[in-house]
Amino acid sequence: MSDYINKIKEIFSQRETPPLCFLHSFGCQQNVSDGEKILGSLVKMGYGVTEDMSAADLIIYNTCAVRENAELKVYSLIGNLKKLKENNPNLIIGICGCMAQEEKTVENIKKSYRHVDLIFGTFAVRELPRLLYEVLSEKKKAVDINEYSGEIPENVSAYRTDRIKASVPIMYGCNNFCSYCIVPYVRGRERSRKPVAVLNEVRELADAGYKEIMLLGQNVNSYGKNLENPVSFAELLREINKIDGDFKIRFMSSHPKDATTELIDAIAECDKVCKHMHLPLQSGSDRILEAMNRKYTTEKYLKIVDYARSIMPDFSFSTDIIVGFPNETYEDFQQTLDIVKRVRFDNIFSFIYSKRTGTKAAEIEDRTSDEDKSRWMRELLEVQRDITDSGFKRFVGRTLTVLFDSESKTEGYCSGKSDEFIIVEAKSDTSVIGQWKQVKITKAFNWALQGEIVD
Ligand code: SAH
Ligand code: SF4
Ligand code: F3S
Repeated sequence: MSDYINKIKEIFSQRETPPLCFLHSFGCQQNVSDGEKILGSLVKMGYGVTEDMSAADLIIYNTCAVRENAELKVYSLIGNLKKLKENNPNLIIGICGCMAQEEKTVENIKKSYRHVDLIFGTFAVRELPRLLYEVLSEKKKAVDINEYSGEIPENVSAYRTDRIKASVPIMYGCNNFCSYCIVPYVRGRERSRKPVAVLNEVRELADAGYKEIMLLGQNVNSYGKNLENPVSFAELLREINKIDGDFKIRFMSSHPKDATTELIDAIAECDKVCKHMHLPLQSGSDRILEAMNRKYTTEKYLKIVDYARSIMPDFSFSTDIIVGFPNETYEDFQQTLDIVKRVRFDNIFSFIYSKRTGTKAAEIEDRTSDEDKSRWMRELLEVQRDITDSGFKRFVGRTLTVLFDSESKTEGYCSGKSDEFIIVEAKSDTSVIGQWKQVKITKAFNWALQGEIVD
């Protein structure tokens, strides 16, 4: 690949100023992290990075396929680029990420969005120099949605704009095939990075002064199972916790089927690991969980929650919920509400089921109406609003550890996230941004906490 990088550099050497690239990532943090890798690779080729799309010589949309509306949005944005291309025929337009990995997207784009020059899937990030060289030198379209196998490439560093928080992928792909989900089809089989690669990257970030490291994977709880020398996620956490530095560790996402008491013990014992877990429940009905192929019961889910809270009473859980899985009934949905009330999540991300062609659930004839699904969604949001309202009150009078990352909308205040992943704001000048501080909570809103910095 370095051959192609040099060839591209040579093309650019005739320019007076370096070419600029613009990239936007949709979807989950894993995709955002891939976007940082892609930018890292483009910088190596000689590109500068711009946030101004109209100034760019290369525009890339890094797409998400998880729900239909995510896809529709991307199509409309790609449509908008046609004008830019007409005004600037040298502009290169690229589509990558999860949508691009799907054959049907490639066909659609070739047919109806002819101004797109470059399409590459989630595996082909490593092939970007070759693909871009083809577009630059031969002025032809380049498409690569092959599923490359073999070692995870470790030679490109991420281009990071955030100086406070960084994410580190620890694994790629997914083996779970939840019946509604497109991710395993567009990201391939699960593969873990070697512990040494993860540890080195975290060490570099800690040395560079990063205050929060987010470990990423579709199911971090099954990290390391397929390595030549298997390691558990709990073991990895303990190793990362030993790295020197003033930083904290978060991770996303955990699958309840692989959440163990060993993991909870590791979280409790590691001082750098935040006392929060994003543990997607999806549904509170065992019948629906089975139809979703989630491979756990509500009983198993609650056991983990109860165990965590038995040793860390304030442990914070957030979750994902799908409302309106095919043929879900109101009784099923009420069971979801029951668990939501029982667990008292600090945050819920809820989605109305979206049919994804190619998945098992897409084959089910769905008799639940869209009106019912929307009504249930509103009911869930209302229930959760009350829970966050009263749940956040438990922190009033207590002192939380908060990483400040920005100025707040409230004048004279800065805001950040607590160890529990709750937004906290406090009166302060901007010198606290980028630091972990102790904040005594004085007020609870249903979206955030307010307090005074005590240390
Ligand atoms: N790997 C992560 C989730 C990745 S997708 C995990 O298992 O936790 C993020 C969330 O999108 C999922 O948790 C699920 O709630 C939601 N989601 C996935 N497919 C969906 C679909 N077809 N319709 C609606 N929501 C979906
Ligand atoms: Fe999708 Fe399930 Fe894999 Fe998460 S664990 S990415 S929901 S298949
Ligand atoms: Fe979307 Fe792909 Fe992530 S489908 S949620 S960007 S893994």
